[in-house]
Amino acid sequence: MASLWNKSMIIANLIMLSWCVVVPPSTAELPRFDHTPTKADGSFSFLVIGDWGRKGGYNQTEVAYQMGIIGEKLEIDFIISTGDNFYDDGLIGVDDDAFFESFVNIYTAPALQKQWYNVLGNHDYRGDVEAQLSPIMREIDSRWVCLRSFIVNAEIAEFIFVDTTPFVDKYFTEPEDHVYDWSGIQPRHNYLAQLLKDVDSALRESTAKWKIVVGHHTIKSAGHHGNTKELARQLLPILQANEVDLYINGHDHCLEHISSSESGIQYLTSGGGSKAWRGDVSWWKPNEMKFYYDGQGFMSIKITQKEVDIAFYDAFGNVLHKWSTSKHLYVSAM
Ligand SMILES: *[C@@H]1O[C@H](CO)[C@@H](O)[C@H](O)[C@H]1NC(C)=O
Repeated sequence: MASLWNKSMIIANLIMLSWCVVVPPSTAELPRFDHTPTKADGSFSFLVIGDWGRKGGYNQTEVAYQMGIIGEKLEIDFIISTGDNFYDDGLIGVDDDAFFESFVNIYTAPALQKQWYNVLGNHDYRGDVEAQLSPIMREIDSRWVCLRSFIVNAEIAEFIFVDTTPFVDKYFTEPEDHVYDWSGIQPRHNYLAQLLKDVDSALRESTAKWKIVVGHHTIKSAGHHGNTKELARQLLPILQANEVDLYINGHDHCLEHISSSESGIQYLTSGGGSKAWRGDVSWWKPNEMKFYYDGQGFMSIKITQKEVDIAFYDAFGNVLHKWSTSKHLYVSAM
């Protein structure tokens, strides 16, 4: 029974793939996917989840269930994962059962049978990184799209997914008892320099109305890990210079929304996919901290020509926080 059902899911996924085509890189170096919205007005919605793969434990299943309900209601077009996809140490290989136990067999709701755009978190780097990046994962479950860094073009919005783990010094200088798989990113200095250049040119060349950057690590956060100083120093100036609208991350196991007076960037943390409740919150300027929830849940975003609507949900599907912004900068049509 189960295998039959899996087979029909794979077929459904293959059909879905027909409208998500990989386009070879043109001017920018990052791989690019076109995800053309299906709604006539070009609007679309998606869910964001982070820090989730625990074989259903720590309310992962409950959160997945609510994602299915909210996803259906919002008619979502895709799902974004902010990384730490498989605890504790990523996948051990392409045949790791954790891929089924933590992903395939957990996010089973019909509304979640959409493309999943995934980045890697620091825990994913403790396993066989190449496994998560392998096209074999996509053959097993065609929802799975995971690259180190890439672009998703959804017409009115463009998403730049950034591999943030290699920026963090302490994983190199104090790995403790963890073994990180840095095989694909050496020499590190060149890798980071090229990545920053690629992100900058992708953002500069983008003509999308909304620019969104996704990474695993925080830039600004009041959670357990707090700000990631390497990203604040190296990546943030590029985001500011290119007037990025949203920076979306996980890493801190919470749901959080920070608006800073320095720029228009909204800092959105969706890291509540499973284990949470760490209880430690640092002080943050009250006028910048729009919302903080140290528990499990996820985020939804709806994007139209004029507006971005954000909502955060707990493990029961209750809306905890909502926020909207609009942009009315139209180029006058001749
Ligand atoms: C699961 O979620 C409920 C409701 O938010 C919470 O009270 C409980 O502590 C969570 N369980 C775990 C193991 O995190």
